Amino acid sequence: MSLNAPLLRASLEIVVARQPEITPRFYEILFERYPQVKPLFGRNSSANQARMLQDAIVAVVDHVEDAEWLTTTLHAMGRKHVDYGVTEAMYAYVGDALLATLAEHAGEAWTPDVATAWTDAYTAISSLMIAGSRTA
Ligand code: HEM
Repeated sequence: MSLNAPLLRASLEIVVARQPEITPRFYEILFERYPQVKPLFGRNSSANQARMLQDAIVAVVDHVEDAEWLTTTLHAMGRKHVDYGVTEAMYAYVGDALLATLAEHAGEAWTPDVATAWTDAYTAISSLMIAGSRTA
């Protein structure tokens, strides 16, 4: 995965430091823009869902230069998401909500380079998850 790892790492601080605000806002934006995905959520507590977002982002950024880990992990995660009822189209919804949430919280730190780094990262991650989901 050819991603801007240093820039992602630097801007990840925003996510980690502000996780208690970012996670609820992410779901608020997601459910407001794409109410059709709401019924998929709920088998986990909201605390678990909060961890889902942060842990996944942190783990991917930690392994951003480890193609083998990324492929194995994200293929498996994509397969699991089929069981949650997630369709391929929904990856664009989550990407939109995630980037909108990050942009809102980053404020001035959301420069064009940072936006590009996150867009590329989300595209790469979701492509691997979708590839995995096709083997479900
Ligand atoms: C980059 C993309 C995504 C990442 C990294 C991600 C990550 C995760 C993780 C780590 C979990 C926790 C359980 C597990 O390990 O399987 C999870 C659960 C879940 N994800 Fe995702 N996810 C992504 C995209 C999506 C999309 C596009 C949807 C569609 C709306 C979605 C819906 C769900 C649902 C419904 C659950 C189960 C929540 C519950 O039990 O209430 N995810 N996700």
